[in-house]
Parts: sequence; structure tokens; C-alpha cells
Amino acid sequence: MFQAGQSLLKLQHLRAQEIISFFEFVSDLEGNKNIFEPSGETAALLFFEPSTRTRMSFQTAAGRLGVQPLVISGKQGTSGEKGETDEDTVKNVAAMDPSVLVIRCQDDLDLEDLSKKVSMPIINAGWGKKGHPTQALLDAYTIWKKSKRNLEGVRLLMIGDVLHSRIAFSHFEFLQKLGVSIGICGPSEFIPEPAWCADHRIECFENLDEALKWSDAVMALRVQFERHKDKMKISQEQFHKQYGLTVEKIRNQKSNLLIMHPGPINYGIEMAEGVMKDARNCVLEQVRNGVFIRTGILHLLLGRRKK
Ligand code: CP
Repeated sequence: MFQAGQSLLKLQHLRAQEIISFFEFVSDLEGNKNIFEPSGETAALLFFEPSTRTRMSFQTAAGRLGVQPLVISGKQGTSGEKGETDEDTVKNVAAMDPSVLVIRCQDDLDLEDLSKKVSMPIINAGWGKKGHPTQALLDAYTIWKKSKRNLEGVRLLMIGDVLHSRIAFSHFEFLQKLGVSIGICGPSEFIPEPAWCADHRIECFENLDEALKWSDAVMALRVQFERHKDKMKISQEQFHKQYGLTVEKIRNQKSNLLIMHPGPINYGIEMAEGVMKDARNCVLEQVRNGVFIRTGILHLLLGRRKK
């Protein structure tokens, strides 16, 4: 499904069987930390917005594939400080001929257009509100592994700031093809219009407890304060009371409920710290799976060979 040389910007083109085959391929890669010849190739990781998990997992993945990661993280120390645009930076780095460009940026950088202008594949590593496909894949991979490799009939609830979540929108692009039902719950200012939800076969819940009882997996979404100053109509305390995951709210839910969060977590808002200690919590497993998923993607896009 990920062809050598092709960019990965969105997920809606993927077919269900391709995704499952990819997960099986990634599962086979797990445990193999260094199975590729050093290649002399480079992977340019251009993170114009902050990141810990995505950036470091791509660095780790590149290292495992024998590809040297070259990293820009923010503007400091780059010509961005002298006014160079992100687009110009991408074009200049592309001129150094890395094998792949991994880019995190705001909505206004046109990755579709850039992918036609550069000669190497571009991977979307978090593009404004438009999507975060590698995160959505690692989330789905985590659920797939935890659900005995069968996503048919699994019910995933996403809670909170759905409207500003690029991760949620990447999930909407492919998850239902795998047989997953999607529910959402959050304050009205963070939830898409009911007609849009109906069109996309997404169930909207007003009551969190009812939504949690429905769920097999629950993903608290980070409130994207940096994308919408003052848009939240309720206080942070009220949000936590109504929509935050707490030890009390999850205590009597399914014994095999998967508790997820893409990170970084705003503790005391989307999730109480105590929830991290719950045996059903798989937040750090998501992070771990992120390395495997990104290794698999780079492996296929770069056409790497095993030793
Ligand atoms: N989930 C995620 O994208 O985390 P980072 O911002 O740390 O990469």
C-alpha cells in the first residue's frame, strides 16, 4: 500500500486489506532493532511545529533502517529566524537530495503541491488540522493488536476536542473501512455538526458515561489550546468534570476497555494522572507502536533491503 517513492499525506485511498497486510508486516518487524545495512541515505525531518513522540520515533525508525536522520526542530538556529519561509526551507533541503522528507507544519504549507515539486516522497507528520496519518495508523495498530487482530465490530470513542484534532480526522478517513464504529463525545463547540456526523456514520453522545459503556476503546483527545485561544466555552475544571477521564469514571467500565491518548496529555483536563496507572491504559504502548509503524512506513517508501 505504501509504494516506494510515493508520498503519504492522507489515508482515504487505502483499502482495508492493504491496511491489515501492512499491520502484519509491521508486526513482523517488531523486535528487529537493526536489520538493515547502513545505506548512506538521509531522511530529512522538518518539524516546524513542536513534537516529541513523532519526531523521535521517526529518528529511531530511520536509525533502525540504516538511514541517517537530519532534523530541523522549530525555527531556532535555522534560516527561518532570518525570515525564510517553511516552503523555501523544504525546497532547499530537498535540493540536498534526502531520500524522504518527513514534515510537521501548519495548515498553510501546501504539502500536496510540494509533493509534486520535489523528487522524493513526503510524509505528513502532523499537518495543521488537516491530518496526522502516521498517528492514526499507530492508534489503529494498537487496537488491532489488543483486539486479537480483528477490528470488525470494535467501537472506538473519541472524547473532547474533535473539531481541532488532526488525529480524529485521519481516523475518519479509514477506520470504518476496517469495521470499526466511531463515536464522539464533547462540548458542542468541539463537535462537528450533527448532519456532518450523520453523513460520516459517526455516533454523537451527549453523556460520557453512556458513551463509555458503549465503547471497546476510548481515546481522550488533547484540547488543542494552541489552535483556538478562548474557544472553549466551559472552564477547564468543568471540562474535566464532564468529559475528562478519571479513575472513578472508568472504574466500572469494561474490564478490557482500551484507554488511549495520542499525547501530549493535558493532565487534569482530558485525563487524570491516576488513569495512567490503570492496567487497561495503553498510552505508552501507542508510543512504542509508533516506532514500529514509522519503521514500516519508511521501510516501504524507501524500498529498503534486509541484511
Ligand atoms: N501525538 C503526537 O503527535 O505527539 P507529538 O506532538 O509529541 O509528536
